[in-house]
Amino acid sequence: MHSGKAAIAKIGICTGGGDCPGLNAAIRAIVKHAVGSYGWQVIGIEESLTGLMLRPTKVRPLYFNDVSGILDRGGTILRTKNDGSPFRKDGQKPLKLVTEGIAALSLDGLIVVGGDGTQGMARILHGEGVPVIGVPKTIDNDLAGTEQCIGFATAVDVATEAIHRIETTAQSHSRVMILEVMGREAGFIALHAGLAAGAHVVLIPEIPFSWDAIIKKIEDRHSLGRQFTVIVVAEGAKEKGGESQFRKSTTGSTHLGGMGEYVAKKLHALAGVETRSTTLGHIQRGGTPNAYDRILATAFGVHAVELAANGKWGRLVSLEAGRITDYRYEDIKERRRPMPMDSDFIRAAEATGICLGRPSTFSQKVTKTKSTGKSAKSGGKKKK
Ligand code: F6P
Repeated sequence: MHSGKAAIAKIGICTGGGDCPGLNAAIRAIVKHAVGSYGWQVIGIEESLTGLMLRPTKVRPLYFNDVSGILDRGGTILRTKNDGSPFRKDGQKPLKLVTEGIAALSLDGLIVVGGDGTQGMARILHGEGVPVIGVPKTIDNDLAGTEQCIGFATAVDVATEAIHRIETTAQSHSRVMILEVMGREAGFIALHAGLAAGAHVVLIPEIPFSWDAIIKKIEDRHSLGRQFTVIVVAEGAKEKGGESQFRKSTTGSTHLGGMGEYVAKKLHALAGVETRSTTLGHIQRGGTPNAYDRILATAFGVHAVELAANGKWGRLVSLEAGRITDYRYEDIKERRRPMPMDSDFIRAAEATGICLGRPSTFSQKVTKTKSTGKSAKSGGKKKK
């Protein structure tokens, strides 16, 4: 196989990495556009690239019927795997199996829907001369080369709803309630959901937190008669000079997790407040995609097919400044995209009184405004 514009008869598609809402919407768009607009055959590859490594290969043709009714279905009909890149773990053998699998199936190209691990594998395949196109997905939203990934918007919705639910019980019991959300080493889910739900404290990996700043926020709220506080903790958050918290899965792999519990225990010990911690976990990844993710996944899938039709292989589909575009893998220098420290959303959070675990100029205790000198609480005399 070779890159460039050539007649296409058959393409393969797979989903890799952790699942997320919107994967099926992307599969559906790819199948519909490839079959309906170009008359290609689409082969669904099972469980990331594993389906190409097995003998016989584990694949199935996808037609309109196979993607009917899946636009709003969570998970992925092609299933997925996120236990590390076989290319890195097992050397050249899996790579050879994949390229041989592609040749045996006479695929003219591959569309790979995945996050940084899967796109890393796609880059390697591209380096081997395989015509491949990447479609970005991850609830963490931390993939380099795009401003937004499939799944992120729904994860933010789910986390926002969870914060609201935590808040009412925090208020009833005058507690400090902590919600740990996913995101790996990026705080996108925590910050965006915290903004959407009006959380009081949001701790993100990009800003190592200080206990003093959090306790001050809790005390300020207390002094205003607000006996409860809701804290959103990104799983990758860490205190200044401290380390992230990790858990072992049943298969022995190590994962970020436990920072919510750690913050709950520590705040109780340091400030004497009653705390509870909840970990939102995979609820953020499961279930139906929201409208935005369905739209994004559809537009990404369509763009991927058009790249293939134009022979523009070796590219990642991307959202930039509201437009669907794409980047050559060679031009994407990093694997992951950190949250920029000058993020408008960091600014918006602190400007509206959300404590990000560091001192800020915002004060909840302002009772007089500079312009009138009148008590902000009484609001001054009413105009007639
Ligand atoms: O990358 C997506 C993600 O959901 C992370 O936010 C989380 O740390 C990790 O995957 C969990 O992975 P697993 O599915 O292996 O538990």
